[in-house]
Amino acid sequence: MQVNILCKNIDETDELAKKFARLIEDKGAFICLYGDVGAGKTAFTKCVCKYLNVKEKVTSPSFVILNEYKTGKIPIYHFDLYRLEKEGISTIINELEEYSEGKILTLVEWAEFSQNALPFERIDININYIDENKREFIFTPIGGKNIEIINGLKYENTSL
Ligand SMILES: Nc1ncnc2c1ncn2[C@@H]1O[C@H](COP(=O)(O)OP(=O)(O)O)[C@@H](O)[C@H]1O
Ligand SMILES: [Mg+2]
Repeated sequence: MQVNILCKNIDETDELAKKFARLIEDKGAFICLYGDVGAGKTAFTKCVCKYLNVKEKVTSPSFVILNEYKTGKIPIYHFDLYRLEKEGISTIINELEEYSEGKILTLVEWAEFSQNALPFERIDININYIDENKREFIFTPIGGKNIEIINGLKYENTSL
């Protein structure tokens, strides 16, 4: 299954992130974000963090690889694997595995560089750039655990 949601501007992306945050805040989740540079992987993450009440400033982890936020409703680990590409991934495989269990939220930008280090139970989010302000978000639950979350998103979006 998958759920496609069109966001016509950043405010609609913010609104989507609010619903998403509400759906994952009790259980946590492991999220893979796919999309070109400028698609909105970091922008979506910032909005989700805002609705989980993160007090720190949320920035792109593209240089540091991992940012951690501990002031929100649940612990948040925000990876950007772009700079590691294929060779460097072995240096963070333990962290990726460690941050795939428990009541935490892990978000991974450029998850395509993670090779086989992704947990089976996860949510894939593909972001397609349509034009300057418009993005298509495609949510796909991988494994059985997250189907309910994506169904919730589908329900919320059709019941507006
Ligand atoms: N509907 C939208 N959803 C997400 N980002 C948007 C949208 N419209 C415009 N943008 C802008 O696009 C840019 C996305 O950049 P960023 O999140 O850093 O991309 P990525 O992390 O995927 O490389 C931001 O400047 C953001 O404000
Ligand atoms: Mg980014």
